[in-house]
Amino acid sequence: MGQAGLKLDMTRTGWEAEALERNLRRRVVGQEDAIRCIAECYQMFLTGLRSPGRPVGNFLFLGPTGCGKTRVVEAVAESLFGSARAVLKIDCAEFQHSHEIAKLIGSPPGYLGHRETHAALSQEVLDQFHTAKLKMSLVLFDEIEKASDSLWNLLLGILDKGILTLGDNRKVDFSSAMIFMTSNLGAAEMSTLIRPKVGFGSFAERPDERLVRRLRTVGEEAARRKFPPEFFNRLDKIVAFQALGEAELRSVLDLELSLVQERLLAAAGGRPLVLTLSDAAKDLLLREGTDLRYGARHLRRAVERLLVQPLSNLLASGQIYGGDFVFVDRAQEGDSLAFFKQPTPAAIQEPRSAAA
Ligand SMILES: Nc1ncnc2c1ncn2[C@@H]1O[C@H](COP(=O)(O)OP(=O)(O)O)[C@@H](O)[C@H]1O
Ligand SMILES: [Mg+2]
Repeated sequence: MGQAGLKLDMTRTGWEAEALERNLRRRVVGQEDAIRCIAECYQMFLTGLRSPGRPVGNFLFLGPTGCGKTRVVEAVAESLFGSARAVLKIDCAEFQHSHEIAKLIGSPPGYLGHRETHAALSQEVLDQFHTAKLKMSLVLFDEIEKASDSLWNLLLGILDKGILTLGDNRKVDFSSAMIFMTSNLGAAEMSTLIRPKVGFGSFAERPDERLVRRLRTVGEEAARRKFPPEFFNRLDKIVAFQALGEAELRSVLDLELSLVQERLLAAAGGRPLVLTLSDAAKDLLLREGTDLRYGARHLRRAVERLLVQPLSNLLASGQIYGGDFVFVDRAQEGDSLAFFKQPTPAAIQEPRSAAA
């Protein structure tokens, strides 16, 4: 110990923020920057050191479609409140006209038809997911590049003072809310920097450190050209999400498959129906569900169509039951999957799927 005293480690956080970080990593592939800044912000909220009179955190997530911007926020809701729906989500595209803004804040008294327009953004709505332990709200303004001017004004007020004034002059306090905004602005510019790989699907190459920094700058510059400067002054952090490469998309598929496995467990009356997929089956799902333009956005749909629907038929027609081992391979013909019932787990019986 020198004159300055015991040197402290300021990168360590408390166990609750650590648990959140761990939980987010289990649900979200990559996007470390986003996970880290959310955990740090949560830590500030818990210790009460955040600056008063404004939201807990104002975050802008930039990046291409289908790389997890919305998913991260849902994952925070799942981790903290046990449900992906425990977030107040405002799809900015739905509020293009002034009468649609009235749906959010209600119309002023005396205004024609004001009785019918209840504010969708009242204090009760904002606080509806609070628990005895955690009095914090999550708010997501999704795809803000589609927001109208009046929605912008409303948003700027919230980011600055943490206060929203409703049509009837009641105030909504956002000082216990974490605010997330997403936009794919700059994604087109960002993607021109990444060389798409030819061949399997059309995945982007995993970018290196220098490229990541350039991507961030390019994305941010595009956003700065479109959004007003006072908006940027009110942000705590801008996170540039990266397009998912082939390895990341495979991990997202594995995440989706483990969710299917959980659903099967519940549907088969608690007796585990065990799925094993061959590499060829996974390749087919990846090819059908992912691409350069939409990232992993259609992966879940491909899994539903090619895997879950057939499984549901097999269960309903009594060809498989809880407790069975089901091996899934790519069908010989056409873009579909083939299902096989096996006496023992495929991982033991089938050498080729052992690595799957
Ligand atoms: N990084 C990721 N980790 C886990 N799942 C992801 C990731 N990126 C995309 N997904 C999957 O793709 C879907 C669409 O992602 P989403 O977050 O809605 O994309 P966007 O970036 O356009 O908001 C998610 O629901 C999830 O199933
Ligand atoms: Mg989104």
